[in-house]
Amino acid sequence: MSVPSNDRFLRALRREPTDRPPVWIMRQAGRYLPEYRALRARAGSFLALCRTPEHACEAALQPLRRYPLDAAIVFSDILTIPDAMGLGLSFAEGEGPRLARPVRSAADIRALGVPDPDAELRYVLDAVSLLRREAGARTPVIGFAGSPWTLAVYMVEGRSGGDFARVHSLRKEAPAAFAQLLDVLAQAVAAHLRAQIEAGAHAVMVFDSWGGALAGDAYLRHSLAPTAQVMAALPDDVPRIVYARGGGAALAAVAATGCEAVGVDETVDLAAARRAVGDRCAVQGNLDPDCLRQEPAELRRAVRAVLDAYGAHPGHIFNLGRGIAPDIEPQQVAELVDEVRAHGANEEAAL
Ligand code: CP3
Repeated sequence: MSVPSNDRFLRALRREPTDRPPVWIMRQAGRYLPEYRALRARAGSFLALCRTPEHACEAALQPLRRYPLDAAIVFSDILTIPDAMGLGLSFAEGEGPRLARPVRSAADIRALGVPDPDAELRYVLDAVSLLRREAGARTPVIGFAGSPWTLAVYMVEGRSGGDFARVHSLRKEAPAAFAQLLDVLAQAVAAHLRAQIEAGAHAVMVFDSWGGALAGDAYLRHSLAPTAQVMAALPDDVPRIVYARGGGAALAAVAATGCEAVGVDETVDLAAARRAVGDRCAVQGNLDPDCLRQEPAELRRAVRAVLDAYGAHPGHIFNLGRGIAPDIEPQQVAELVDEVRAHGANEEAAL
C-alpha cells in the first residue's frame, strides 16, 4: 500500500519518532462547521449525506481544507451496522439516533445475521475509496466501526441517552443469547473493518463509547473480549486504535486486546496512560472538549498540559477525549491545532 506523504500519524501509531505529535479531532467533520451544515441541507439529511459517497467524501475533506490535520476520518456512523442488520436507523432532529426494531429477546438475537459489507454497506466502502483517492496521497485515512458492546447497547436500548436498564437486564437474564449477540456483532464489525481496509483505509478505529457503563469483570467480558475478537480477525499490518471511553481504570487490559493504539477520554492522566500501556501501544487523546469554550490563551495552555503530560516520548496522537460539540467556534480548532504544532515541535526538539 502506498504511504501518504504526511506519515506522522502512521509513524506515531508504530511508536516511531516524529517531529511533533500528529493531531486530528474526533468528529472533526460535523455541525460546528457551517460548510457541513450547508452540505447536510443539500443532501437532505444526515443519513442521505452518509449514503451518498460523493457527499460523504466532501464532508470528510471539509476539516482538512480548514486545518493542517494529520489524519482524515471517513464520514459515516457507527450505527450503519445495526441499520444493515435490519434494525431501521433514523435520526430525529435534535434527538440523536433511533432504531425502529430494537433487539429485546433471545428470538430477536437468533434472527440476526452478519451483513455483507460489499452489499449492505457498499456506500461506506465507496466513501472510503473516494476519500483515499482525494486525500490519501497526502493524508492517512481512518476507517472505523463501533465496538460490539457499544453497538449492542444501541441495538437493545433502541436510542441514546437512556440509563442502560434494558441492556443490563438482557445481559443478566439471557447470558447465552447476549453472548451470541456480541459474537454476531464481533463478526460484523471485523468484516466491515476488513472491507474498509480493502477499500483503502490506512488505519482503523473501534469506538467503545459505552464501555464505561460496565464495571470490573463485566467490562472485560462484554466489552474487551469481543473487541479482542475483532482485533484478532484483522490484518496485523494495518494499525488498529481502540477508543476506550470510560476504560481509564483498565488501560493495560485495553492494550491487551491486540490494538496498536489506545484512545483515552479526558478523565485519564496521559502520563499514567503511557505507563499503563507500557511499550505495547501508542496513546491517542485526550484534551477535554470543553476547553474549546475557553479563551484562546486558556485553550492553548490546556493543549500544552496534555502534550506535557504525555511528555517527549514517541507514540502520542493528539486528539480530544471525546467528540467536538456542535456549538464550538471553528477558530478555536485552528488555535488548538496551531498550539500542537508549535509546542509539540519544541517538545520533540528537546528529546
Ligand atoms: O469526523 C467524524 O468523526 C465524523 C464521523 C463520525 C460520526 N459519528 C458522524 C456523525 C463518527 C466517527 C461517528 C461515531 C459515532 N456515532 C459514535 C462514537 C463516537 C462517540 O462520540 O462516542 C457514536 C456513539 C455514534 C452514534 C451517534 N451518531 C450519535 C449518538 C449521534 C447523535 C449525537 C449528535 O451529535 O447529534 C450521531 C449522529 C452523528 N454522527 C452526527 C455526525 C456528524 C450528527 C448528525 C447531524 O449532522 O445531525
